[in-house]
Amino acid sequence: MNCPARSGILDEPTIEPALLNDWHVVGTSEEFAPGKLVPITLLERDLVGWRDDEGVAHVWEDLCIHRGARLSKGFIQNNRVVCPYHGWNYDATAQCVLMPAAPTEKPMAKARALRHHTREAYGLVWACLGEPAHDIPAFPEWDDPSYKKVVCGPYHFRSGYRALENFIDPTHFPFVHAGVNGIMDLPDPIPPYQVKLEDGILSTSEIKVTQPYGDPRNIPVVAYYAYKCLRPLVAYFKKRVVISDPQHAHLGSEDDRFCTFFTAQQVDATHSIVRITCAMNFDPQPTDAEVRRRQDLVYAQDSAIVDTQRPERIPVDLRKELHHRTDLLGQKYRKWLHDMGVMYGTV
Ligand code: FES
Ligand SMILES: [Fe+2]
Repeated sequence: MNCPARSGILDEPTIEPALLNDWHVVGTSEEFAPGKLVPITLLERDLVGWRDDEGVAHVWEDLCIHRGARLSKGFIQNNRVVCPYHGWNYDATAQCVLMPAAPTEKPMAKARALRHHTREAYGLVWACLGEPAHDIPAFPEWDDPSYKKVVCGPYHFRSGYRALENFIDPTHFPFVHAGVNGIMDLPDPIPPYQVKLEDGILSTSEIKVTQPYGDPRNIPVVAYYAYKCLRPLVAYFKKRVVISDPQHAHLGSEDDRFCTFFTAQQVDATHSIVRITCAMNFDPQPTDAEVRRRQDLVYAQDSAIVDTQRPERIPVDLRKELHHRTDLLGQKYRKWLHDMGVMYGTV
């Protein structure tokens, strides 16, 4: 159910298979509100999103096959997308079913919008511009009712890869997030940790850090991060949180976990939109507002630094920046991108 014909009418950037045939987040389920056309840019491709009367989300090329007008400038009527130019009506299968200038004629079979594979998972809408080579990555806590989930963002970054690499880097916490995720005067030394590549996923052993405000409860914790790089622009961590002050230890449980599912939509080579979903099983559970307050603060601190990194495109050639053993996951991430053949947005 994807773009049936690349008819040469699109000026497409060259996207390598690793990204073309991957699922990318293009919005939250909430952003795909009924009756609304959502303009989207993914990997320089202008797309339009919408939700039909059955509740199914669609992502199409933002282009009318007739004269190339932008469908996102049109409107939805009777469960059809109506082009703003000559009013061609496209149904939910992307077939044109009405040409108002010839209302009694059946539109030709070729009069179709160019649709892409679209799925919804974890409160997010995903699209694949090619043929999906993988499933959407797993987010195990999403279906576990003992976890509260909160979708946060969008957060704007230049490089989605730089943003992801920052997400999996605990050594910046004491500096970028002083008083939140770390302590500037007492940075945590990071002992050696392991990174393994299994079933196409990079994952680490636990990494211990001290956090004055490590989760929305605003209680100092010792946190043990286990990271995963799931896809080039999708990552995840599960952190075990232990309340540091023994006097308040009774407020927590040894099962307390705080997880984050991270996604980046690469708009073009140097612009991206980051959306994250937090999952936590504390008791009592924080409010959505408490969760967002902390995430908004942390991601604003991150983008203020990450967006100053040069080059803006992440170097996947390991000779281009200096790596220390404490950057092991970032180093493996770059090599993994390189080995996958990811070139768009990299140097
Ligand atoms: S360009 Fe869309 S109807 Fe003519
Ligand atoms: Fe950070």
